Amino acid sequence: MRQISYAYIETTSYCNLHCTFCNRDDVVKRASHMSVEDYRIVLKKLEKHDIKEIKLMGMGEPFMHPKFHEICRLTRETFPKAFIISSTNCQLSFNENFKKALQHIDLLYLSIDGYGENYEKFRPPARWGKLLKFLSGLQSFSSHSASLAINYTINPGNVEDIQQVEQLIDRFNLNELRLNIVQNWNEDESTDELNGFSKSQLEYLRDQYRHLIKGKPNWDFQDCFWVKNGLYVTASGDVKICCMNTSTEPVGNLIRDLNAEFAFNNRRFIEIKNGCETGNPTKHCVNCSYKELTNILPKVL
Ligand SMILES: C[S@@+](CC[C@H](N)C(=O)[O-])C[C@H]1O[C@@H](n2cnc3c(N)ncnc32)[C@H](O)[C@@H]1O
Ligand code: SF4
Ligand code: SF4
Repeated sequence: MRQISYAYIETTSYCNLHCTFCNRDDVVKRASHMSVEDYRIVLKKLEKHDIKEIKLMGMGEPFMHPKFHEICRLTRETFPKAFIISSTNCQLSFNENFKKALQHIDLLYLSIDGYGENYEKFRPPARWGKLLKFLSGLQSFSSHSASLAINYTINPGNVEDIQQVEQLIDRFNLNELRLNIVQNWNEDESTDELNGFSKSQLEYLRDQYRHLIKGKPNWDFQDCFWVKNGLYVTASGDVKICCMNTSTEPVGNLIRDLNAEFAFNNRRFIEIKNGCETGNPTKHCVNCSYKELTNILPKVL
């Protein structure tokens, strides 16, 4: 049996934002929540795997799922030792769903990619004031042990805001700032923004922030862990291959199919996997952002 050690599970594809850099609007034609019953089926099919890390997020705002706390509780119950990560755009009220879910989450990403008006520009229709209110609510709730990280997607229009956003760490008792260079998760598109960084912006990122920037500067297709041990499941149970290509056709459906093995025996999946392992990427992988980022990461790391 192919072992899954890393699972990325989307339990809702509803979202309250239309971020300019996110391909959700291209991918999600009809939003849905995965029911708790279906999520139990998903967990049942995964329970034999030694999953070390689970990301409960995808093309949606996880906390819009009305039972997201229950999703988190079931995940913890099934995989007591797994490291559970989720993410929020911080534009909802800090309500009971957050408070209960946080009991079972190890790391919560707070997606903030700009300061003030610039934040609002990249995350319409988000409001800076709502973000601050959310962070205050989160700060005043201390009965959890989750680590809180600002996850900042860097594009040429928000490089200069990083310093101000970094100050939110102390102001709201957060744990860390993580910087990711913007990517494009559509199969047929490459990341145009990567050409928009000026030389001085790249030098600034390298001199001031290289220690916080994520990614592998010398990544190659043979390094792809997704085809070896990863799993990406959408809110409808569709199995896709990775989070670098969210627009692709599914290779199976974990709710309807017998088990995850069904997707991994799919001919297309095998071709994609072989393509990575032999360094001959198929159509699915030619625009892989991990690979595209190797053009820029050596300049900033
Ligand atoms: C797809 S979102 C889903 C969770 C939630 N809606 C949010 O925004 O936090 C998960 C993370 O991916 C990041 N993200 C979205 N589009 C991205 C892109 N094009 N390149 C890099 N990161 C991106 C978001 O900023 C967020 O931190
Ligand atoms: S980044 Fe998150 S909040 Fe923004 S559109 Fe994508 S899923 Fe929604
Ligand atoms: S696009 Fe291909 S190479 Fe890139 S992460 Fe996905 S499966 Fe791996």
